[in-house]
Amino acid sequence: MGGRQLLIAQLTIIGLDFGTTYTGVAFCESSALTRNDTVDIIRDWPSAHSMVGTKDKVPSEIAYSANGTILWGSLIPPHMQRYIWTKLRLNQPQETNGSSPQHNNKEKQPVDIIADFLSEVRKHLIKNLDARFGEKLWRTLPVTLVVTVPADWRDAAKHATLQAVKQAGFNETGLPQLKRIITTTEPEAAALYTIHSMKGGVQEEQLKVGDGLILCDMGGGTVDLISYRVTGIKPTIVEEATAGAMALCGGSFVDCAFIDWLERKVGVDGFLKIAGCSSSECRLTALSTKLAQMVQEFSLMAKSGFSGTEEYYLRLPFPLSGIDDPMRGMCDGSLYLRPKDIEAMFEFSLIETKRLIAEQIQQARQKGRINLKSVFLVGGFAESPYLQRRLKAFCASHSLATVKPPNAWSSIVRGSLLKALALPVPNSTGISTPIAKPTIQSRRCRRSYGTSCTFRFVEGKHRIVDRYYCGIEKEFRAKHQVNWLLYKDQVLDVTHGQAHAKLDFTWNFPKGGRKEMIIPLLASDQMAPSIRSLSMDVHKVADLVVDISFVPQSTFKKCVSTSGEVLEKLQYSIEIKVHEVLEFSLLIDGVRYGTVVAKYA
Ligand SMILES: Nc1ncnc2c1ncn2[C@@H]1O[C@H](COP(=O)(O)OP(=O)(O)OP(=O)(O)O)[C@@H](O)[C@H]1O
Ligand SMILES: *[C@@H]1O[C@H](CO)[C@@H](O)[C@H](O)[C@H]1NC(C)=O
Ligand SMILES: *[C@@H]1O[C@H](CO)[C@@H](O)[C@H](O)[C@H]1NC(C)=O
Ligand SMILES: *[C@@H]1O[C@H](CO)[C@@H](O)[C@H](O)[C@H]1NC(C)=O
Ligand SMILES: *[C@@H]1O[C@H](CO)[C@@H](O)[C@H](O)[C@H]1NC(C)=O
Ligand SMILES: *[C@@H]1O[C@H](CO)[C@@H](O)[C@H](O)[C@H]1NC(C)=O
Ligand SMILES: [Mg+2]
Repeated sequence: MGGRQLLIAQLTIIGLDFGTTYTGVAFCESSALTRNDTVDIIRDWPSAHSMVGTKDKVPSEIAYSANGTILWGSLIPPHMQRYIWTKLRLNQPQETNGSSPQHNNKEKQPVDIIADFLSEVRKHLIKNLDARFGEKLWRTLPVTLVVTVPADWRDAAKHATLQAVKQAGFNETGLPQLKRIITTTEPEAAALYTIHSMKGGVQEEQLKVGDGLILCDMGGGTVDLISYRVTGIKPTIVEEATAGAMALCGGSFVDCAFIDWLERKVGVDGFLKIAGCSSSECRLTALSTKLAQMVQEFSLMAKSGFSGTEEYYLRLPFPLSGIDDPMRGMCDGSLYLRPKDIEAMFEFSLIETKRLIAEQIQQARQKGRINLKSVFLVGGFAESPYLQRRLKAFCASHSLATVKPPNAWSSIVRGSLLKALALPVPNSTGISTPIAKPTIQSRRCRRSYGTSCTFRFVEGKHRIVDRYYCGIEKEFRAKHQVNWLLYKDQVLDVTHGQAHAKLDFTWNFPKGGRKEMIIPLLASDQMAPSIRSLSMDVHKVADLVVDISFVPQSTFKKCVSTSGEVLEKLQYSIEIKVHEVLEFSLLIDGVRYGTVVAKYA
């Protein structure tokens, strides 16, 4: 028995769900997942107190003490300044480009803060692996790490997440067994777990081909949705029915609304005394001790327990604790929150979530062939009794049932492990076939992608300002154009590992000249994007750096420009695969030359 188990155990899979507010880690050896659904979730997170309701995740918080010690998660004492919601900063365009004006150079960058935090998570994970499998055993198995990212994030932000993960020591120095890092989107991981957990149950029995389900991941930062259509049963196989959607309206926004409400309640001056800044400046930087404590108390008490009728009293910190003003709800050192106040704090998140669900319903039904049945609510924010009640009523009005699957909070990190099973497993001799068939058959492209290019000038189609004369082609051409390769909502087959788009290039350059080509990759959130690269809806994703210095000389052909200059000519292609992160490779005369490096803007 034991011998058989060892043979099946091909690798260790680790799932890492770095969330805006909480981080979860799960692991298993590959055969455990196919035998039954027992996976190990780290629940012994170090904690200095027992205030946190669940142990399935650890707060994504880090503090640097004056003596250089790093404190993280629940170890940070309440009075200490900390970094929170750092993940949201990754998706802010202005911050990924070096230091932004509002932060001086000494201030740590989001990627560094996250790397420091995840480094502590990694050390704790290794202790858990040692304890669970024994120090010797797991170290002999290759490790696959699955990192979750929000589905709708900018490609640069997804890339930055992976950068932080690697910097945290999920690399050959910090985890030598690590053979590869793969990514999955958060709602997809939750969907995989949800489908997996239906196995053998009543819900699976009732599933029919053509049924539709909406998955709604309600996290601390974002609410992320995808709709699926069932294409096969026993085992359940699904395809994405929509391109999905996301909004920044997770649980933290209730905390933000509380901060705004607090400022209105205690006044701008009073607020300044406890926060050290105005409420509008609070989110980006670390919160003051006093404000952080109030927000934590609000979040763990008022926000979590609220179902629509409860009222709460929060402790006011000094010097506000001295104010006696019953009209403003301040007395005996506490602050009164009416049910109406709390409802108002949930309002933004609730409206946005309803809007997203309605959009998914409309888009999915528009495409036809789908019988939408239920909305699955997962993520920590979906634990809110108030939200559950309001969303249930809303979905019922659209003839949809709401379901909160078991382990809704940890479903994302649990599901991330399943992602690894459907991919080929690298073994000592090569790549073996996947352990399991993929559950998700096809995805839809999240945005339109293309490259900047020039076209032969066409009167009426191109703008006259874009016209120029090309000496090599000996014709008028139009610059600032986009060659769209993939369109938003386009169906992408993900079961065969083939490329989703191919770009063909002809490149003329002086003999012995540059051996590096830079191709800007552009994107648009429109299904029918503009043809011009300078249009408002088009933005640059990354520069694709194509290094051809190693390409054999025989591959180049000669050509002569109008001025008589002898040029070298190379014909090549770039293949693009759209997974959770984009993948590129270079093809010359049918030969694949390593990967193309993408430098994100
Ligand atoms: N019972 C509850 N009522 C209301 N909110 C809750 C409850 N339990 C947890 N939350 C909130 O859920 C959020 C955490 O959820 P989760 O761990 O899924 O988010 P995350 O993964 O950190 O964020 P994201 O996925 O957006 O990056 C926090 O804002 C937390 O306050
Ligand atoms: C799952 O597998 C583990 C290890 O093989 C075993 O201990 C456990 O009892 C199994 N659980 C179920 C529900 O089959
Ligand atoms: C450093 O500071 C932290 C918190 O302020 C404290 O817990 C720790 O003991 C200190 N460590 C040393 C080495 O002084
Ligand atoms: C980003 O930084 C580079 C160099 O540091 C600079 O040239 C570029 O203009 C910056 N882009 C933006 C959008 O700030
Ligand atoms: C690898 O991990 C170590 C920490 O163990 C870190 O210092 C280093 O920067 C990481 N390397 C890369 C390339 O990120
Ligand atoms: C590795 O995978 C290959 C391809 O599927 C398979 O033939 C081989 O037996 C595997 N080797 C080991 C040691 O599992
Ligand atoms: Mg999450």
